[in-house]
Amino acid sequence: MIGRLNHVGVATPSIEDSVRLYRDVLGATKIHDKFALPAQGVWVCFVDLPNSQIELIEPLDETSPVAAWLKKNPRGGQHHICFEVEDIQAAAEEMKLKGAQVLGEPRIGAHGTPVIFVHPKDMGGVLVELMEPPRGRS
Ligand code: CO
Repeated sequence: MIGRLNHVGVATPSIEDSVRLYRDVLGATKIHDKFALPAQGVWVCFVDLPNSQIELIEPLDETSPVAAWLKKNPRGGQHHICFEVEDIQAAAEEMKLKGAQVLGEPRIGAHGTPVIFVHPKDMGGVLVELMEPPRGRS
């Protein structure tokens, strides 16, 4: 039921530093402006790749879950991976039926579409985000 990889989430203590890395060292040419996503307590900045995106996330403040994550990983690092699904409610129910813990209720994610997160303990140590793709995308 999972569709294509939408993005890889990378937590960072500084989006500006990470943008320099992706632009100047790795050569990414399409980097979006950062924006706040208060529902998840983060600043977000998308780096476009030919086949996917990197989602840079930086805590909005000390209460952000990503702030706690960065305490354990001070340099930042790979935080989650995101797969597309057709129907977020159906995906959430299927995850629960199969014994995987869904973290909270579906909410609006960084692309403006519904997302859920699935606990890494049930996903081989990987925090998995599932998202509905934006409608009308080519
Ligand atoms: Co994400």
